[in-house]
Amino acid sequence: MKGVILAGGKATRLRPLTLVTNKHLLPVYNKPMIFYPLEAMAKAGIKEVLIITGPDHAGSFLNLLRSGKDFGLKLSYEIQEEAGGLSQAVALAESFARGKRILVILGDNIFNHDLRNAVLEFEKQEKGAKVFGKKMPGMDSRHYGVIEVKDGKVVSIEEKPANPRSDIAQTGIYMYDDQAFGFISKLTPSARGELEITDLNNFYVDQGTMTFELMEDWWVDAGSSFDELLRANNLVAGELGNENTPEVEK
Ligand code: DAU
Repeated sequence: MKGVILAGGKATRLRPLTLVTNKHLLPVYNKPMIFYPLEAMAKAGIKEVLIITGPDHAGSFLNLLRSGKDFGLKLSYEIQEEAGGLSQAVALAESFARGKRILVILGDNIFNHDLRNAVLEFEKQEKGAKVFGKKMPGMDSRHYGVIEVKDGKVVSIEEKPANPRSDIAQTGIYMYDDQAFGFISKLTPSARGELEITDLNNFYVDQGTMTFELMEDWWVDAGSSFDELLRANNLVAGELGNENTPEVEK
């Protein structure tokens, strides 16, 4: 399986921090944000990773990450000309994937869940996709995709619903077989003008080939607000045993 990290987008929610740099280059405690999904890839046993970013700061990613040798990874880079949505970005990975399955991680997702077993399980799955959920009682569902699960099976995924059908947030970790690219070519832009990852995922839900894993440990969408960015900093610092770090709810 190959890896894909999405690091484009406009990051309007973190301005002015993101006026002259890319969100995924901002610090999360002692490392740039993008280091965390890259380390998660390496830990999961992935060897080759494609980084997809916008044209403005692509050079900074190259300067920072270079060949990927320091992570034990072989890195490639691809430019998404306009921030047309997560599925539009995933489509750019088609020639890199060359028929292989892909693990996609959003570059602003920080978590301590070990993906190794899920990678092995997904390799055994005949076909389809896998999503990772996180129980978030009381969440503001208008910030997340929401996964509805019955008897261990995904029955629906809704993007930022006002009235959520469950308390399980869809995280930014996805696994796909090579049907994904055909499905994306059938997508049309959502109300916010983007090709949504949730619409891609629902092709698999309809096909009955979407599997699901619940993440028990902490997970943060660090790019969604200043508070979540702060929470990610504190969780990482706490993990490293920094005694000055405030107690943070996981
Ligand atoms: O983090 C989990 C959430 O991520 C899920 O619950 C949602 O279902 C999913 O749609 C997504 O929602 P966000 O609103 O958080 O997505 P955002 O626009 O912040 O983009 C997520 C990452 O993808 C971010 O690191 C930037 C990158 N990106 C985004 C866009 C729109 C791209 O690389 N290209 C793009 O065109």
